[in-house]
Amino acid sequence: MPTPHNNAKKGDIAPTVLMPGDPLRAKFIAENYLDSPVLYNEVRGMLGYTGTYKGVPVSVQGSGMGMPSIGIYSWELFNEYDVQNIIRVGTAGAVADSVQLRDVIIGMSASTNSAYASQYRLPGTYAPTASWELLSAAVEAAKQSGAAYHVGNILSSDTFYDDADSLADWQKMGVLGIEMEAAALYMNAARAGKNALCILTVSDCPLRGLSTSAEERQTTFRTMMEIALETAKAVAGK
Ligand code: HPA
Repeated sequence: MPTPHNNAKKGDIAPTVLMPGDPLRAKFIAENYLDSPVLYNEVRGMLGYTGTYKGVPVSVQGSGMGMPSIGIYSWELFNEYDVQNIIRVGTAGAVADSVQLRDVIIGMSASTNSAYASQYRLPGTYAPTASWELLSAAVEAAKQSGAAYHVGNILSSDTFYDDADSLADWQKMGVLGIEMEAAALYMNAARAGKNALCILTVSDCPLRGLSTSAEERQTTFRTMMEIALETAKAVAGK
């Protein structure tokens, strides 16, 4: 059944979906990494494709930027399209001193300054957490890739341009990097009884005033895609 935001019919979308923020990134991934990609959604330009990777059905769809946007698309994938696994592939700013430009971060948990969890009416603070199955498969793939990678807590922020300068406080708590979507994705997965993971490449260091060149982003993107696709393959049929 199509939703207000997705034209796909049930069965058009694979059990595992990769989600970059940028829908044109989804098109690029479909055309360069998947065999026989078929476009299933164009509503609001949020392109979604299904193809195969090493024979395993995989979909790729944009999430848009921020938790409200990934909240909508991932909720529909989990609850309306029988999607089992969503792997976000994106970029992050480095927060921990140990994290360098171009490194890969695998988000074991996602702290947040968002009020997204308030909808669950919990009498405490919820800890958005990745799926162990996806996380352990991704760590294995990261080891194989030879990439410099970190596994731990990330910060999903509602603000890219933040007036409060609070990054140093998050750094004191061991946060590795900052992005804007994982916490909502992890909460939607938990609520639906499904699996989610966020894999990131470090595109900038806000605390050190550094950023990568377009060329460097290409290379690190390839490494992240290799990790994400091998993770999708590892969990296929489970
Ligand atoms: N802040 C938030 N999201 C990001 C950043 C950042 O510095 N870099 C890449 N995604």
